[in-house]
Amino acid sequence: MQAYSPPTQGRGAAVRLDFNENTVGCSPSVTVAVAQALSANSVAMYPEYGSAREIISSFFNVDSEQMAITNGTDEAIQLLVNTFMDTGDELIITSPSYAMYRFYAEVSGVVVKEVKYLLHGNLSFPMNELLGAITPSTKAVFIANPNNPTGGAISIPEIRHILDAAPNAMVLIDEAYVEFCGVTAIGLLHEYENLFISRTMSKAYGMAGLRCGFLLSSASNMGWVRKAQSPYSVNFVAIAAALAAIGDKEYVENYVREVIQARSFVVAELDRLGIQQFDSNGNFVLFMVGKHAERIVSELRNAGVLVRNRSHEFEGSVRVTVGTTEQMELFIQELEKAL
Ligand SMILES: Cc1ncc(COP(=O)(O)O)c(C=O)c1O
Repeated sequence: MQAYSPPTQGRGAAVRLDFNENTVGCSPSVTVAVAQALSANSVAMYPEYGSAREIISSFFNVDSEQMAITNGTDEAIQLLVNTFMDTGDELIITSPSYAMYRFYAEVSGVVVKEVKYLLHGNLSFPMNELLGAITPSTKAVFIANPNNPTGGAISIPEIRHILDAAPNAMVLIDEAYVEFCGVTAIGLLHEYENLFISRTMSKAYGMAGLRCGFLLSSASNMGWVRKAQSPYSVNFVAIAAALAAIGDKEYVENYVREVIQARSFVVAELDRLGIQQFDSNGNFVLFMVGKHAERIVSELRNAGVLVRNRSHEFEGSVRVTVGTTEQMELFIQELEKAL
């Protein structure tokens, strides 16, 4: 296995455009809820999930039996592998995509089959290749929608196509960036027993540090998942924060609106600079700077702007998280200097 390389230390003081987080922070109602939740007694108790599960599942428009609260999407992925897969089972992922699919699969000895996004295909979703890769022995297909780091998203008819093509596999649609894209597969849950959906509070909601996510599927699938889940994997502060975050719709809607506007600004500015880039439905944009990638990333870092070199996936590519227009103006200004 390749070890995952976590963020470098000391990111808090910089403009964080490297991990697709919310770049301005969570809603103020979340920090208030966290402060109110903390007492010597509440800290002493094991967390309770009952009423939170009711509230959060109705937020997603599903029954509470159809959902598990997880320690981020990462626990959701791990739970799927632990619950339904054995050593030697086959998982199909697209490549590049979110690194943790391969990570948890490899920890469990699951065989990973990759379907590649191609530069000469303009990084469009490799649908035909994916459908061609599915066999009767495929146990799972994990897809990020929108995909990180390529940015593209697939439509509901395309998701149906995959679900129909892999009736005996579990199909995970990871909706970590759904707020920036607007297409959710939740409406398909009542039709497809093989569909799983993960959601996270780490991105638009600005709660990456608290580790809270959700896994949704049929009640019977989720019965198995919850059985295999550690009983107290999500702490009570994260639960209090998540309830406050979903209660402050306005904050997330405003942030998403701001990011989408700033994304158009970034796209236009990269165009002006003659830089190749790929259409994004998320809060990030992948662009190509050729052999200068490492130097540009390092010069931006020296100027206090963190972005991610993705050359290990596509030579010369850099991914920038989109935050506010003001932050993106700074990014473009520093990028232009580095160029
Ligand atoms: C596609 C995708 N899913 C999930 C995550 C992480 O989610 P969480 O913080 O909920 O574990 C990321 C983070 O980069 C991601 O890109």
